[in-house]
Amino acid sequence: MKWIEQELLRRAREIDQLLIEFLPSENGYPPVIHQAMRYSVLAGGKRLRPILVMAAAETVGGNLRSVQPVAVALEFIHTYSLIHDDLPAMDNDDFRRGKPTCHKIFGEAAAILAGDALLTLAFEVLAKSASTCDSPPPSVVLQVIQEVAQAAGTLGMIGGQVVDLESEGQPIAETTLEYIHRHKTGALIRASVRAGALFSGANADDLADLTEYAEDFGLAFQIADDILDVVGDERKLGKPVGSDLRNEKSTFPSLYGLEQSRKIAQDSVARAVARLARFGGRARFLKELVEHVIERDN
Ligand code: IPE
Ligand code: IPE
Ligand code: MG
Ligand code: MG
Ligand code: MG
Repeated sequence: MKWIEQELLRRAREIDQLLIEFLPSENGYPPVIHQAMRYSVLAGGKRLRPILVMAAAETVGGNLRSVQPVAVALEFIHTYSLIHDDLPAMDNDDFRRGKPTCHKIFGEAAAILAGDALLTLAFEVLAKSASTCDSPPPSVVLQVIQEVAQAAGTLGMIGGQVVDLESEGQPIAETTLEYIHRHKTGALIRASVRAGALFSGANADDLADLTEYAEDFGLAFQIADDILDVVGDERKLGKPVGSDLRNEKSTFPSLYGLEQSRKIAQDSVARAVARLARFGGRARFLKELVEHVIERDN
């Protein structure tokens, strides 16, 4: 196994432990909602967003302990977005992270509420991070809360999801497709990297380069997701392939074909890597991670 793959597994296991710590107990009343939240969060997943939070902090020499709640919050928001994305009213998918989707097990109403609860819990965790030892000044925590909220909202992920749904079954312009990808997926990835860097007191130049890195990372990541929906292996992905075709989604492969999509993703990766130059060896992980994004099979 390559170094980056080993590192990803090791880091994902650390994040898993943190998620367990921050989730409400499944016995807490009313148990069904806590069971549904834990089911989807702990089903697995690559933990990419929390890994990016921690890696951005690491790259700028931050305090890795104080940033942990931020990493947890980003995974909660991401998991909420997946629960809702899989609902019959949206992509109507039955498998996620190698298991039946939340609504298949708990029903639609509980799945909607589990998503709402994870989103809300994320902001509770973020707000509480201001009072842990070694936390950055409250003004920094407030900026992170504001940026994460914006990234999750209508100018970010929600906006992307709305246009993704509106664009089903009809041809769209290249610029619209790029808007969808940069928002439904890119916004949260950008917020993860920026939050990790901001929490760690990154200077303006470091923050600017990491932000550009994250934007190209997000685009490449969603193009790879589209490609895997065509050529991926369901068992490795843990979710259905062919979902985009069934829903008549506009994707990079549907607009540009597979080969050209791979080329566009590679160009994004090259731009992201170029943005890491100032960090030298400290950015080894971020560099290998973005290169891995377009090689991955899950
Ligand atoms: C899936 O995200 C949804 C997208 C934004 C492409 P991931 O591929 O990171 O899913 P998990 O967290 O590993 O399950
Ligand atoms: C999902 O994009 C993006 C969000 C959940 C915000 P997709 O619909 O392509 O994600 P998958 O393929 O179901 O994981
Ligand atoms: Mg979707
Ligand atoms: Mg989907
Ligand atoms: Mg997809």
